[in-house]
Amino acid sequence: MREQELIKLLDDMSIMEKIGELNQIPGEYYKETMTATGENTTLNFPKELIKTIGSALNVSDPELIVKIQKEHIENHPHHIPMLFMLDIIHGLDTTFPIPLAQGCSFDPELVKTLSSAAAKEACVSGLHVTFSPMVDLCRDARWGRVMESSGEDTYLNSVMAKAAVEGYQGKDLTEEGTISSCVKHFAAYGAVEGGREYASVDISERNLREYYLPPYKAACDAGSGMLMTSFNTIGGIPSTANKHIMKDILRDEWNYDGVVITDYGSLSNMESHGISEKDDVLSEYAINATVDIEMCIGRYYQGLQKLINEGKISEKQIDDAVLRILKLKNRLGLFENPYRFANSEKAKEICRSKKMMETAYKAVNQTSVLLKNEDKSLPLKKDEKIAFIGPFLDSHDLLGGWPGNLKYRSEDKSVLDIIENDYPDNHYLFAKGCEMLGSEEPMLKRRKLPFEENQNARNEKIDKAIEVAQKADKVVMLLGEHPRVGGEITSKVDIRIPKIQQELFDAVSKVNENVIVVLFNHRPLDITEISGKAKSILDVWFPGSMGAKGIVDMLFGINSPTGRLSMSFPYGVGQEPIYYGLLPTDHSTQVSDTFVTGYIDCPLEPLYSFGEGLTYTDFEYSDFSLNKKTLAENETLTVSVNVKNIGQRDGYETVQLYFRDVFASVSRPTKQLIRFEKVFIKKGETKEVLFYLTTEDFKFYNFDMNYDYEPGEIKIFVGHDSRTNECKSIELM
Ligand code: NOJ
Repeated sequence: MREQELIKLLDDMSIMEKIGELNQIPGEYYKETMTATGENTTLNFPKELIKTIGSALNVSDPELIVKIQKEHIENHPHHIPMLFMLDIIHGLDTTFPIPLAQGCSFDPELVKTLSSAAAKEACVSGLHVTFSPMVDLCRDARWGRVMESSGEDTYLNSVMAKAAVEGYQGKDLTEEGTISSCVKHFAAYGAVEGGREYASVDISERNLREYYLPPYKAACDAGSGMLMTSFNTIGGIPSTANKHIMKDILRDEWNYDGVVITDYGSLSNMESHGISEKDDVLSEYAINATVDIEMCIGRYYQGLQKLINEGKISEKQIDDAVLRILKLKNRLGLFENPYRFANSEKAKEICRSKKMMETAYKAVNQTSVLLKNEDKSLPLKKDEKIAFIGPFLDSHDLLGGWPGNLKYRSEDKSVLDIIENDYPDNHYLFAKGCEMLGSEEPMLKRRKLPFEENQNARNEKIDKAIEVAQKADKVVMLLGEHPRVGGEITSKVDIRIPKIQQELFDAVSKVNENVIVVLFNHRPLDITEISGKAKSILDVWFPGSMGAKGIVDMLFGINSPTGRLSMSFPYGVGQEPIYYGLLPTDHSTQVSDTFVTGYIDCPLEPLYSFGEGLTYTDFEYSDFSLNKKTLAENETLTVSVNVKNIGQRDGYETVQLYFRDVFASVSRPTKQLIRFEKVFIKKGETKEVLFYLTTEDFKFYNFDMNYDYEPGEIKIFVGHDSRTNECKSIELM
């Protein structure tokens, strides 16, 4: 449809039709068995609203979508099709590694590929919008939702945000295999106080703009069709009512013309924040902040009608919001093709196809991080006598939090299946060792999860594991967080592995000193004790549908782990929030050894820092150089470095470039990622890696809050990870 036709359509719509567009209905309305991602509030939806409702959440069955759409178009006075939305966080039917792990790939092409694969499954299943990517900057591992983002760094998050939007949306949203993205949660949800779920945020304007907002902007600039508000308040103002971030920044500064949706029930959330209990008051805040759709509660419907009747808002405000939604529907080609590519027969071919599974498999080693590899314990040699121990050994669920389709939670192969099928050998010994959780876990009260209650059974399992470990040359222990303790409502104050598993680890590591840990986790954990005792630690996060095959092939060296940490691991939970590149202080160890910043019982730096990760070969850096000593506006600085593969295998190295603005009108981070490049280097080969920078790259919010660079010294660091001290200076002119 041409824009003029859309405007004509808008002019023709009644006010009730318009308000219908601004509301979304939960899928449970159409089928009670639908997955609920919030309270079921379908009772708030009168028939007259449903007739003109603009969108639905959580319906993902293509046949049902076609049926609903057909009836809806028939009944709607202007036959306007609905939008169908769903949380597709790391794949729909095929599950890929969790987003935090995807961040570890340091490979935007991979993120694009995985998002595009997810879009293909979603599109054929009849869906139009995914509530992804989540690009909240995350620096506190207590927050359960860190698994949904790409971690602690602004630049990495921004690059990955763009890649995800491009992957979901393709070049043209009318094309088959595409869906609209919805970037979330605007804004700064990752900065919730103490990592507490649904908590508040208090953040300076500088911190917000400098570190938290750029990833959302990157997604908007990449053309994300939608954006979601966040549950949190910022400085006491709920995001959904926040005119400053929504109107001033998002709409006016960034010129974002896409659709803004609240988070699930955000208007009610504002009531809980103590703003008002009245639908109209809450709705007035939201519409004035240019919020277009209310997700699933139906309060906007009540509120907006009253506001219009009382003349408190203008019809133009409603029109602007409706037009944005109609434009998205048009961008998706829905007016010409209301069912788009929904096709249940084709869905059976595409979803979880061999090709999808291959894509999922290839992602596993690229997202896994080898944190430690003493004595080159990994890869395993086939003739070694190896014991595989741990509750993840026979687990069929390696999907982690928020898989697209819960139906497939326990359908995939386990690590044990893969070893027995693909590595048939008499040398291998197996013991489960323990269940994932013991009865003492406090979280069991909040989550209905299975656990070990019987002490005798617990002892017997550990004894069997000890027996097996004593006979082995090496022990591979598969340990970690429960696969359902990641994502929304999973914040924790204890970020160690469950106690029952720690007991198992302690018992096994007492009788065998060659322990290799394969770690399953949604967030950086406190693994300080494990790290002190294990020879190797391979962090596989939650690797998805092909996790087991990916892990076993990696352990035996068919593939090498090539991921780097997208979020730092703390020494202990008390060190959270922790991230690399803290702001400098006078009390640094260089200045004094008494009045130093940090703690007296823990180092300042994390246990494993951002960007760290090993692989099965080694690299040597040399000939680091800058092509000039000064850099003026419109000039380009070339940074070059040679990287040699000095190990015994071909491999990938992620070369990282950081900078520090030595003196500026405001305090600047001790180190900030500015570029990275993942390069494949053959054994014995040297590659020259080049980076190009301009003064644009050194802009920041200065003393007067202007975004600009300042003349003076910039230190450029190059190296393997954020701990690198290899640096050279350039003078900005
Ligand atoms: C609430 C979550 O915060 C959000 O991320 C999600 O997209 C919605 N529920 C819908 O499920």
